[in-house]
Amino acid sequence: MRVVVVGGDARAHVLAHVLSRSADDVVVSGGNAGTPNAVASPPEELDGDLFVISPEKPLVAGLADRLRAQGKRVYGPGVDGARLEGSKGWMKQLVAKAGVPTAQHATFSDAALALDFLRTMKPPFVVKTDGLADGKGVLVTESLIEAEDDVKAKLAGASFGEAGRTVVIEEGMAGPELSVLAVCDGHRAVLLSPAQDFKRAYEGDNGPNTGGMGAYSPVPIAGDDLLGVVMDRFVEPTLAALRAEGIDYRGTLYGGLMLTPDGLKLVEYNVRFGDPEAQVVLPRLSSDLVDLLATAADGALSDHEPTFISDAAVCVVGATPGYPESPRTGAVIDSLDAIDDVPGTVVFCAGVDRDSEGRLVTAGGRVLSIVGFGPTIATARDRAYEGVRRVGFAGMQYRNDIAAAAAKEETDT
Ligand code: AMP
Ligand code: GLY
Repeated sequence: MRVVVVGGDARAHVLAHVLSRSADDVVVSGGNAGTPNAVASPPEELDGDLFVISPEKPLVAGLADRLRAQGKRVYGPGVDGARLEGSKGWMKQLVAKAGVPTAQHATFSDAALALDFLRTMKPPFVVKTDGLADGKGVLVTESLIEAEDDVKAKLAGASFGEAGRTVVIEEGMAGPELSVLAVCDGHRAVLLSPAQDFKRAYEGDNGPNTGGMGAYSPVPIAGDDLLGVVMDRFVEPTLAALRAEGIDYRGTLYGGLMLTPDGLKLVEYNVRFGDPEAQVVLPRLSSDLVDLLATAADGALSDHEPTFISDAAVCVVGATPGYPESPRTGAVIDSLDAIDDVPGTVVFCAGVDRDSEGRLVTAGGRVLSIVGFGPTIATARDRAYEGVRRVGFAGMQYRNDIAAAAAKEETDT
C-alpha cells in the first residue's frame, strides 16, 4: 500500500516512520528538510491508497473533504468535524449536548460583556481564542489585570488576528493532565495508549503555553478503569453528538483531559494526533498502524484493537531560542546522524530547512523531537536526554524536567 502523509511537522515525520513498518511506500506531502521521502506536490496531485493528514490547519480548511471528493481514502475529519478544534465555542456547545464534563464557560465577541463576565470569575482566570492559535492562544493566570489585558488584545485582533476576535472565558481547573487519542471511524472509536504532554515553555510548568515541549507514554495514573471512563463519558457521547449533527467523524479525536478533584474533565478536543504525543504513542504500537488508519478511513473499525509494547517513550522537544513569542531561526543543526550512537533513541524533525550551503538549519519554533525508549520511564528519559546532548543547535531551548516526576514516582513505588 502507498500512503501519503500530509504535513511538515514532527508528527508527520513520526507518522511516516511508523507507517513505513508495513506500507510498501510512504511519501510526505510538504514535509521539511529533515523529513525522509518529502515531496513538494500537494496531496491533491498525488496518488495513494491512504491519505493521513497530520496538522489541524488543513483539516479546518477542508482538505479532507477535497481529497474525498477526488475519491481518495482519507484519515482525518472533514471541515464539519474539524470545527471541534477550529472553534472552541462550537466545541463547548457540542460537548454540552453530549453531557461531557468540562469547565463552565461563556463565549464573547464584545469586550465590555467579556470583561464584565471575567470580573465575576475566580482565579485562575482562563482566556482562550475561539480559533486556531498553534496551541498558544490560551492564557491561564492568577492576575485579573493580565486576564483583562489579554481579553482586550485578543478581541481587538492584536494578539492572534481573526482567531482571537471571539474568546472563550472559562472556569480555572486544576489537576494532572492526560492526552487521550481515539481513532474514530464515524461510529466506533478505539483508544491508543495515553500520554502526558508539557505545554508550558519553561521548567516547573512556568511561562507561556506552547504547542508542547515534551511528552511521555504510557501514563501510570491512567489505568484501564480511567480509560473506561474516558470512553464512556467522553469519546462515545461525543461521537454520538457528532453523528446527531450529521457528522461522519473519521479521524483522531484527541481529548485533553484534566483529573480534577471533581473527577475527569475535558480541557479541549483536537482533531488530529497530538504533537509531541504522537512521537511517544505511535512508535509504541505493536499492531499495524496502516491497517488501523485505513480501516478507520473506511468506516469499518469493527473489532480492531490496537496493541502496544510495554516499553515507555519520552520525547524532549528542542525549540529555537525565543520560542514561542519570538523564535530566532537560522542556526545550523548538528549532524542528526549522531542520534544513531545513542541506543534506543530516534529524532523527528519539524522547523528544519536547508541553507544555501546544503546544511540543515532551524526554521521554526519547535525544531527537533528527540525520543528515548526503554523498559521504564526513567530509562527512556535518560536516553532521550543523552540524545539531546548529541544532536541540536546553538541556543537550543528545551526543558530539563520532561517526565521527571513520573520517573521519580516509578522509582518510589
Ligand atoms: P488548550 O489549548 O485548551 O488545551 O489549553 C492549553 C493548556 O492550558 C491546557 O493543557 C491546560 O494546561 C491549560 N488550561 C486550559 N484550560 C484550562 C482551564 N479551564 N483551567 C486550567 N488550565 C487550563
Ligand atoms: N501537544 C498538544 C497538541 O498537540 O495540541
